[in-house]
Amino acid sequence: MEEQVLKVQKIKNGIVIDHIPCGMALKVLKILGIQGDIGSTVTLAMHVKSRHGWKDIVKIEDRHLDEREIDKIALIAPRATVNVIEDYRVVKKHRVEVPEVVRGIVRCMNPRCITNQREPIEPEFYTVSKEPIIIKCKYCGREMGPEDIVENII
Ligand code: CTP
Ligand code: ZN
Repeated sequence: MEEQVLKVQKIKNGIVIDHIPCGMALKVLKILGIQGDIGSTVTLAMHVKSRHGWKDIVKIEDRHLDEREIDKIALIAPRATVNVIEDYRVVKKHRVEVPEVVRGIVRCMNPRCITNQREPIEPEFYTVSKEPIIIKCKYCGREMGPEDIVENII
């Protein structure tokens, strides 16, 4: 455990998204719209040993997440925690939760779905399974899995 502390530095201010399933860290960045030049320091740790197997961690300095962003993270990292760090201390720990209804954060992948027509209706899905996540479009019945969801996050 001591080694791990050295490998992954603590941050002063910002957020730590912890307990991300192994291999999903880059997708978390994608979902948050974090690409090359964002003006804050991002640290990724992939395949880190934890109490329960392996995990990824994403640390973003000087950044906050809103509820909507936390909901998006839940879709691909259902056991993640979002830690708010202030002056090196964890001042808040959100446990993300996969919602029963996913509204307005994922686009239906069926191009003919009514939610993708000229007068769009806000997309809405029911959660069929939480781990692995499967959501089903309320309008056309199309089911989407983790990869589909990442590609269609709004
Ligand atoms: N962390 C950090 N910088 C800080 C404080 C914490 O990067 N200044 C990281 C820790 O390394 C850890 C996460 O934020 O990955 C949560 O910290 P903490 O709540 O102290 O750890 P645990 O108690 O192990 O959290 P949990 O019970 O959620 O696993
Ligand atoms: Zn649909």
